[in-house]
Amino acid sequence: MTVLPVIAIDGPSGVGKSTLARAVAARLGLTQIDTGALYRAATRAVLSADIDPTDTAAVAQLIGQVQFSYEPDLLLDGADPGDLRAPEVNAAVSYVAAVPSVRERLVDVMRRRAVELGGTVMEGRDIGTVVFPDAIVKVYLEADDDVRVQRRLADEHQAGRRHLDSHAVRSGLGERDRIDSTREVAPLSVPSDALRLDSTTASVDDLAERVVAAFRDAAEGS
Ligand code: DC
Repeated sequence: MTVLPVIAIDGPSGVGKSTLARAVAARLGLTQIDTGALYRAATRAVLSADIDPTDTAAVAQLIGQVQFSYEPDLLLDGADPGDLRAPEVNAAVSYVAAVPSVRERLVDVMRRRAVELGGTVMEGRDIGTVVFPDAIVKVYLEADDDVRVQRRLADEHQAGRRHLDSHAVRSGLGERDRIDSTREVAPLSVPSDALRLDSTTASVDDLAERVVAAFRDAAEGS
């Protein structure tokens, strides 16, 4: 049996998971999968259908009928899902991501996509704990709160949302962290065998090299 090369990168918002995943994927010739985008696309579907994101039964019913595909970008019912980083998506996504049947559905999409790609660098909240508990390397990425806020604020300003200030970004991040870490199904947690990295001051290149080294060590040992 050949082992699917999967590198799992978990951690809270704004720690630089996407940047690190992209750098590692480029070094290893793998494709990155941003699993937050799936929960964000599901949230877009909920908002477009005018469903209250906290109405668990209605959210579960809707998401059971929506199609998620990659061609190669993520499509929702065959179409571009729209702005996945819009403020209304940020405010609702943690509620949608806490619905157990939504998670079941999207975990299935993630696993199928990883197999289709022949391996992946997958980033999210529960990749090393639930989606791929046998991942070759599991990373848990952290950063100081002030740095996380500044990075997210820079992203928002870059996207043209210049009215947002650090206070608004800090409270949004704090609220999402709270819901993501306390939900009943697959809460954000550190996998017991994770390589813990901190991106507060380290460069992306240094972090990516450490992950690649861990991957090569694990691959040689297996
Ligand atoms: O990484 P992100 O900010 O794009 O994630 C958006 C939301 O989706 C966030 O509330 C956490 C949730 N999420 C999750 O529950 N599990 C994942 N594997 C990825 C994201």
